[in-house]
Amino acid sequence: MNTYKHLLKSITLLLLIPVLYSCGGEESSEPRSTQPPVEEPALTEFELEHGIGPVTEPIEIGDIDPDLVTKGRNIYEMKCEMCHNYQGRMVGPELGNVMERRSPEFVMNFILNPSGMVREHPVGQELLREYMTAMPFQNVQKDEARAIVEYLRYYYEENN
Ligand code: HEC
Repeated sequence: MNTYKHLLKSITLLLLIPVLYSCGGEESSEPRSTQPPVEEPALTEFELEHGIGPVTEPIEIGDIDPDLVTKGRNIYEMKCEMCHNYQGRMVGPELGNVMERRSPEFVMNFILNPSGMVREHPVGQELLREYMTAMPFQNVQKDEARAIVEYLRYYYEENN
């Protein structure tokens, strides 16, 4: 009986050892970062002017295409209007004149990659500081973003 008790005690002690160990080791348990911070790769000239995202080449822009405008307007009213006014700030910046401020590729990249734009592009970073809300990706496809651009071009021409 006595040996049995003794054995139990030893086992309990053995089980306690790792617990005691982990309590003392505070300092060494945190991995210390000795790596220098990774340099952000500089943006290309294209990215600086036209944004970062799936649009990496100049897109074709011609006369305003009315079918594309209609398609773009429908998506815009469904997915953008709740945060953007044509004139004056709302949750996000005014977009009635965005085609004057930005290139079509820039607007498409902002629509298609809003989180990347506020993280990595100087204009996006500045906008996030100003508006303090991150524009969420609205589940818009590339051809839909192109249609929205057409609608915003149309809007700008009609109102200026
Ligand atoms: C939940 C609100 C919200 C929705 C919905 C939203 N946006 Fe935004 N948008 C913002 C905010 C806020 C910014 C400023 C950047 C930031 O903080 O993320 C912004 C920035 C932009 C910009 C950059 C403007 C500039 O001056 O360069 C464009 C373009 C844009 N949005 C287009 C759209 C389009 C098109 C849609 C619909 C597909 C849309 N947004 C939907 C909130 C929104």
